[in-house]
Formats: sequence, C-alpha cells, structure tokens
Amino acid sequence: MKLCLLLLLFCLCRLGLTDEPSPGAPDVSDPVDEEEEAEDTDRSCRGGRVFSPEEHQALGGAIERLGLQLLENLPIGPQQPNVILSPLSLAFALAQLSLGARNETEKLLLKSLNANSLPCYHHILGSLVPHLSNTSLDVAARMYLRRGFEVRQSFVEDSLARYQSRPVPIVSVEEVNQWVENVTNGHIPNFLESIPHDVVLMLMNAVYFKGEWQTQFDPLETSKGLFYVDTQNSVSVDMMKSAKYPLRLLVDPELEAQVASFPFKANTSFLIVLPLPGKGNVSSVLPKLNISDLYRRLPQEKTMQVNLPKVKLQYRHELQEALTSMGLGSLFSGPDLSGISDQPLKVTGVRHASTVELSEEGVEASATTVVTSMRSISLFSVNSPFFFALVDDASLAPLFMGIVTNPAPNNDAMLNDDPHNNSTMSDQPVMDSFSERDINSKHSNRSRSKIQSCSAPTGHNKHLQSVNGPEDSNGLKTTQENKTCSKPNDSVPA
Ligand SMILES: *[C@@H]1O[C@H](CO)[C@@H](O)[C@H](O)[C@H]1NC(C)=O
Ligand SMILES: *[C@@H]1O[C@H](CO)[C@@H](O)[C@H](O)[C@H]1NC(C)=O
Ligand SMILES: *[C@@H]1O[C@H](CO)[C@@H](O)[C@H](O)[C@H]1NC(C)=O
Ligand SMILES: *[C@@H]1O[C@H](CO)[C@@H](O)[C@H](O)[C@H]1NC(C)=O
Ligand SMILES: *[C@@H]1O[C@H](CO)[C@@H](O)[C@H](O)[C@H]1NC(C)=O
Ligand SMILES: *[C@@H]1O[C@H](CO)[C@@H](O)[C@H](O)[C@H]1NC(C)=O
Ligand SMILES: *[C@@H]1O[C@H](CO)[C@@H](O)[C@H](O)[C@H]1NC(C)=O
Ligand SMILES: *[C@@H]1O[C@H](CO)[C@@H](O)[C@H](O)[C@H]1NC(C)=O
Ligand SMILES: *[C@@H]1O[C@H](CO)[C@@H](O)[C@H](O)[C@H]1NC(C)=O
Ligand SMILES: *[C@@H]1O[C@H](CO)[C@@H](O)[C@H](O)[C@H]1NC(C)=O
Ligand SMILES: *[C@@H]1O[C@H](CO)[C@@H](O)[C@H](O)[C@H]1NC(C)=O
Repeated sequence: MKLCLLLLLFCLCRLGLTDEPSPGAPDVSDPVDEEEEAEDTDRSCRGGRVFSPEEHQALGGAIERLGLQLLENLPIGPQQPNVILSPLSLAFALAQLSLGARNETEKLLLKSLNANSLPCYHHILGSLVPHLSNTSLDVAARMYLRRGFEVRQSFVEDSLARYQSRPVPIVSVEEVNQWVENVTNGHIPNFLESIPHDVVLMLMNAVYFKGEWQTQFDPLETSKGLFYVDTQNSVSVDMMKSAKYPLRLLVDPELEAQVASFPFKANTSFLIVLPLPGKGNVSSVLPKLNISDLYRRLPQEKTMQVNLPKVKLQYRHELQEALTSMGLGSLFSGPDLSGISDQPLKVTGVRHASTVELSEEGVEASATTVVTSMRSISLFSVNSPFFFALVDDASLAPLFMGIVTNPAPNNDAMLNDDPHNNSTMSDQPVMDSFSERDINSKHSNRSRSKIQSCSAPTGHNKHLQSVNGPEDSNGLKTTQENKTCSKPNDSVPA
C-alpha cells in the first residue's frame, strides 16, 4: 500500500486594508522577548525528555479529532466520491503556523489542534517525526520564503527545531514542483501551476508511506468483483481475495459497522470501518468513531475470508472552506501572525493533494501464510463504502484517513441486480473463490447459506454485503443473521 499527501499553506502580504484592527504591536520588533518566551516553554518541555506512551496516545487522540472534524466538513458525493487526507500533515501545518501566531489567532489554532489539554504540544508532536521513522512513513517539510521578505528569526528557528521545516528561497514554480515530486516519490507531479506574486511564504509538508501487509494477498486470486456504491449502483473492481487471512475483526453494534485492522510490517496498521448494509452510512459513523477505543476492543486475529478492493485514487482539494467551517475562518481574513513577521499576513490558500494505492504488495511473494486451525469461517468483504485510517500502532495517531465510496470512479456504474432477473451479477466472492478444500467441512454449508440469506437495504440487490461476525458459533447463527443482515423493509421510511 502506498499513501502520500502534500499540504501547502500559502501566506501572503495584506495590502492596504485599514478597516481591521492592526494585528500585533506595530513596533514589536524586539525579538528578545519572544525568544525568552520560547525558552520558557522549552525548559519545561525539553530537558532531554522522552515522552511517555500515554503522552503520545493523548496526542494521537488530538490528531484523530482534528482529522475527523476535517473529514466531516469535506464534501463527499457523486462528483467527489472519495476523500483522502492526512490528519498528521494537517496537524504539522497548523502547529507550525501557530508558532508564529499570537493572541486570539494562536488560541484558535491551538484549540483546533485540541492542544489545550496537552502541555508541550509542539514538543510531543515534533517528537513523532523521529518516532515515525520506525514506521514506513517519511515526513518532509519546507518553508519557502520570498526573497526580501523579512521573517522573524524566532519563527524560522522554532519551525526548524520542532518540525524540521527548513527555510528555502522561492526560486520558481518548477523548483517547488520538483521538490514535491521528489518527496512523494513521483506520485504528485505538477502540484502548482504558478506562485502568485503576493505570496511571500509557503509552508509545505509532505507525508509518504509505503507499507507492506504483514500478510500479502496472492495476485493470482485477484479477480473482478462488484462494489456497491449505493443501493442502486455498483461498479466492477479488482478484488484482492484471500480465503485464509488473519484479521482482527469486530462487529460494533453501536457504530453498526464491521471494524477490521490489517497489520503492516512496520508498526502501523490499516483500520477499515464498513457500515452494515441498511444501517447508516459511512458519513454517519464519523461522529461516533474513536480509534483508541476500537483498538482496545478488537479481538485477537482470526483466520477468515477477506475481499478487499484494489484501489488507486487521487484527491485534490482546497481546504479553505472546510477549515472555515471548522472555525478557522479568521486565518483567511485578519489573523495575528505577528510572530512570523511585522508585516500583516493572512493565509490565502490551503491546498492539498493526496493519493492512495492498495495492492497485493508485493507480487513475488504469494499469500503463503500458514494457518493451521480454522475454527470458523468468517467473511470480511469490503464491497460497499468504507472509512479507512492508517494508524501508528504506538501513538494510535491516524497518519492518513479517508472515505472511499467509489473505488473506481472512472468505470461506468451499473445498475444493481434486478430482482426479477436471475442473471448472476450479484457479488458472491465467497462462492466463487471458496473451494471446498479451503473450508472446514463442518461449517461450509452453513456459512454459505448464511451469506446467501443477507439481503440488501432496498431488497432489490441480492447481496449488498456479506457479513459474518467473528464470534460465530453454530448456536448463534440465526440471531447473527437477523442482526447483521438487513431486512427488506429496513430502509423504507415508516
Ligand atoms: C497581541 O500580542 C502582542 C504581543 O505579541 C501584544 O503586544 C498585543 O497587545 C496583543 N494584541 C491584542 C489585541 O491582544
Ligand atoms: C476515545 O475514548 C476515550 C475514552 O474511552 C477518550 O479518552 C478519548 O479522548 C477518545 N478519543 C477521541 C479521539 O475522541
Ligand atoms: C526505532 O527503532 C529502533 C530499533 O529498531 C530503536 O532503537 C529506536 O529507539 C526507535 N526509535 C524511535 C524514535 O522509536
Ligand atoms: C530532486 O531529486 C533530484 C535527484 O535526487 C535532485 O537532483 C534534485 O535536486 C531534487 N530537487 C529538489 C527540488 O529537491
Ligand atoms: C517497530 O518499532 C520497534 C520499536 O518501537 C522497532 O524496534 C522496530 O524496528 C520497528 N519495526 C520496524 C519494521 O521498523
Ligand atoms: C448518510 O446518512 C445521513 C442520514 O443518516 C444522510 O443525511 C446522508 O446524506 C447520508 N450520506 C451519504 C453519503 O449517503
Ligand atoms: C437480465 O439481465 C441481462 C444481463 O444481465 C439483460 O441482458 C436482460 O435484459 C435482463 N432481463 C431483464 C428482464 O431485465
Ligand atoms: C431465470 O432463469 C431460467 C433458467 O435459467 C429462465 O428459464 C428464466 O426465464 C429466467 N427468468 C428471468 C426472469 O430471466
Ligand atoms: C450440509 O447441509 C446438509 C443439509 O442442509 C447436511 O445434510 C450436510 O451434512 C451438510 N454438509 C456438511 C459438510 O456440513
Ligand atoms: C430471525 O429470522 C428468522 C427468519 O429469517 C426468524 O424465524 C427468527 O424468528 C428471527 N430471529 C430473531 C431473533 O429475530
Ligand atoms: C417491516 O415489515 C414488518 C412485517 O413485514 C412490519 O411489521 C414492519 O412494520 C415493517 N417495518 C417498517 C419500518 O416498514
């Protein structure tokens, strides 16, 4: 799997506006004050201090809330069916900006970062960078400065010390784009078309992840399958399949979703939240999500049938509107960024580009995980819209998160199965990829009949989703069925 993302904050000079209170004192150019202030914080937070796992997890929760809040404010629909963002990257950008913010603006930024209850926020966040080098994540940051623009030395030093953001002069748009391409391993070319003349400062950061599943999928098992975009439409996608995949799977009655965690080789894991058919949707689970809570409750790994779509998606979006809805609108009108420069500045754009690629990884190694005991056959089939997060196992910080409602937006949508037509377009990955020998015979036809008995929300398509709980036992089958599979009239308003 590969994920990468680039985030850019533009800052520019404010020209000739007089109707707003002048931010900062006009002649504060006494950098000594600020350095002393910074040193105070440094003394209580630094001292060669190593932050505890609890502190890292508290930070992880703060980053998660930031990410979920942004996700809730980003439009999602037929034109923009998928969203990919990096809460971590956004936290870095806003935190760096807050180093140069004063008064209300600083308070606002720290509030949006959920940093108020976290003393030493900047230091803990900064300490994640070296920590994350033990995962497959690369973080790169740069501060592009227009020649002649006077920036406060304390801002430059703090940015470098906390977030390893080095100052470089703006030379050309080509040079910026080349850097972006370099740090994203070629995944994000031509990021900017131009750099407007009034831009004096650009804060950029990039996050790149390339991880290998702990258990890879066998490319030979990958075949076409249906993904149910909504109750009416489906698209054909390449489905990676494994009849025996070790997975931590939970059916969460409160989220009304299946929750699964796929481990990567390097201290990270991939969380998927898949709403149950006919029960809410991927947007409605967001306000209830709590990653650390889910990780605490996920059971031990069990072997099961897994179907996961191969996806390769790109996402580009201006975040100004979403950040404004999150209460950060004043960044774009009259912020107090007097810690960056004496000149009044405002943020003029927050641009964001990201890609995600899910694949078998890697091709030469087939799925050879040896699994000996198979006590029950469960199924986790990701064939309808889902939420995902790439999670750092130590801090539980979501490095990336997103929503996929259509993994193949360029493919033509098809109408879901017509109940009056007995053509076999339904999604039955279990049926076509299970071979008898894979299955502990005692349970085989139970599993099948159970899967077949699920019906889609409208009652029109035969199998919106096939669901098995992880705790199946023979005695529970019937109830499990009723709980996890929607009844035909579930989605009909009373
Ligand atoms: C903003 O902060 C500066 C110091 O950085 C201070 O001198 C000034 O009075 C503050 N302005 C307001 C409106 O609080
Ligand atoms: C998740 O729940 C725990 C308590 O169970 C809470 O401490 C934590 O702040 C919550 N995290 C988020 C991101 O809401
Ligand atoms: C990274 O892992 C190495 C061992 O592989 C360990 O010695 C080091 O402390 C880790 N670094 C961080 C920042 O966690
Ligand atoms: C991009 O990478 C190439 C090759 O490693 C290097 O020569 C070039 O200086 C880099 N460009 C930027 C802008 O980082
Ligand atoms: C995972 O983290 C541990 C310690 O935090 C480290 O020793 C190990 O090398 C890391 N694994 C990888 C693959 O980097
Ligand atoms: C999700 O469900 C809510 C109501 O529960 C609805 O308002 C919203 O439009 C739905 N979103 C999607 C993407 O279907
Ligand atoms: C049934 O489906 C087939 C192909 O999927 C289609 O050609 C045929 O017209 C459909 N028949 C009806 C009655 O919808
Ligand atoms: C369903 O299939 C049977 C046999 O394949 C065929 O005779 C019948 O006409 C089909 N029904 C519909 C509605 O297509
Ligand atoms: C499958 O189910 C049938 C009856 O439904 C039963 O007779 C048969 O023994 C079952 N087979 C297995 C392998 O459990
Ligand atoms: C489950 O559904 C079956 C029929 O599908 C029904 O006979 C049974 O009473 C239901 N059980 C519960 C607990 O709703
Ligand atoms: C669903 O159907 C059952 C009986 O078929 C009926 O009693 C119930 O009211 C229906 N529920 C809704 C929400 O339509």
